Amino acid sequence: MATATKTRKRTAPAPMLAARLNAHVALEAQADGNVVARFNGYGQSLGKFGAATIKRLGELRDGLPLASVRRGRAADKEIDLLLQRLARSGLLEYRLGRTRGGDQVVIEPQVADYWPQIAKIASNDTIALSRFAYLRRRGKEMVLESPRADGLFRIGDPRIAAALTTLSHPQKISRYRKERGFPGLELLGLLMDCQILFKLKPGDADGLRPSEGDPNLALWDFHDLLFHTHSTEGRQANPLGGLYSYSDLMPPLPAVRSPWPGQAIAMEGSPAPADLPPPFTSLLDARHSIRDFDDEHPITLAELAAFLQTAARVRKKWTSRDDTGDGGPEVSYASRPYPSGGAAYELEVYLAVDKCEELARGFYHYDADRHALTPIDVRAQDLEAQLCDAEFAIGASGLPQILIVIAARFGRVSWKYSSVAYSLILKDVGVLTQTLYLAATDLGLGGCAIGTNNIDRFARMTGLDFSIEGPVGQFALGRGRPEPDGAERGSGQAHRSRR
Ligand SMILES: Cc1cc2nc3c(=O)[nH]c(=O)nc-3n(C[C@H](O)[C@H](O)[C@H](O)COP(=O)(O)O)c2cc1C
Repeated sequence: MATATKTRKRTAPAPMLAARLNAHVALEAQADGNVVARFNGYGQSLGKFGAATIKRLGELRDGLPLASVRRGRAADKEIDLLLQRLARSGLLEYRLGRTRGGDQVVIEPQVADYWPQIAKIASNDTIALSRFAYLRRRGKEMVLESPRADGLFRIGDPRIAAALTTLSHPQKISRYRKERGFPGLELLGLLMDCQILFKLKPGDADGLRPSEGDPNLALWDFHDLLFHTHSTEGRQANPLGGLYSYSDLMPPLPAVRSPWPGQAIAMEGSPAPADLPPPFTSLLDARHSIRDFDDEHPITLAELAAFLQTAARVRKKWTSRDDTGDGGPEVSYASRPYPSGGAAYELEVYLAVDKCEELARGFYHYDADRHALTPIDVRAQDLEAQLCDAEFAIGASGLPQILIVIAARFGRVSWKYSSVAYSLILKDVGVLTQTLYLAATDLGLGGCAIGTNNIDRFARMTGLDFSIEGPVGQFALGRGRPEPDGAERGSGQAHRSRR
């Protein structure tokens, strides 16, 4: 199994690499030495620093050469700490080289712990562009990106863009460096660290799909991996959530589509099939989102077991040959109470538990086959952050008692389906989400779907690479707090995400 996160050991920085503040960030030194970062109307304290460090704050506007800060050198300890704090809060970018026309390359971190690393490349190495890399216009800039990359590269010098495009054919460094416009080993090393470039292994002939990464990566189509990383949190720095970005541009579409022209057939007042609504109709009618939970009477383990048994257990298993009809491999199946595209049942249920009677706080996997919970050892900060983010996303007044994290084993679907794999998975998430809502309602529990999830944190918590198994949906669950008599049920949806 591939491991998720590279430990970010810091290597010697490139001579030309400089860290600088993002354009929307300003640093303010207060009289007591406290340094505060100001951005988007927020103020974030970065701690107290001495006069020598405060004197260097101005360098961070234009670019503080990383080579001028030596790790372990006493005089640089403070500025190094300040850089680390700024980097961890996503307030820095890194420029490499300058011409009269401006910056040649600027790296914008896409994951929380990005720190530029220059991978070693030898003369006899053969390198190629990743099939996930793409160059596009963003505003008035060219950006080089990849859903696998921890950083986005703003390319200010068209000669660099041109030189990189020649890497669509694998190139031996000894030959490539003789070409006009060779972009330099530093940039190539930075791109290699971000998996925008890769080294061919001995015996890899062509640098095409099977040569890059491992068999799990071969299962991903370009657009599916891009869609996955850009419709979730954790591996991209774009603003995300209910931001109303186009509210100045146009009014919202109406809640109900305008009627089609023509004679409508009225159904109001048609006789109901029976006098009393059948239980399913009542269940659908009773279902609504519950975001605040009764922490004096948390959900119990028995209720959780009934909920999972109702909504997500494996109820039947079988195997059959694939449906190509030419004697392909035997495929195993495990049916559950909700439908699933191609009967793939790629969705896994994980639980971040804050409060549940007779179940310890922690992170668990629901073993749908054995109907059992398996604890997974995670860092307390990650569990807390996951629950806090869910509380924030639903605008609740406390942590959800249980956060159900729906993760997908992507390869289970993409092994069979091309081009539609990721969209099928998201459809399955919708189906399971409604099943969770109905099961909760039926058992007298409450819940609320959550539209955002952090794929990088899940990777850290489980040790699973984000492209192998990762979260695609979330659902807050618990015993709903009794609603005061006569209270109106508002839409209440928050759909917020911290950035
Ligand atoms: C896919 C999906 C994502 C949702 N994400 C959120 C969310 O992030 N935060 C939230 O407060 N509610 C979320 N909701 C709940 C909706 O806001 C809610 O279903 C809607 O307002 C209708 O209210 P009702 O569920 O009470 O009928 C989500 C619902 C769905 C189906």
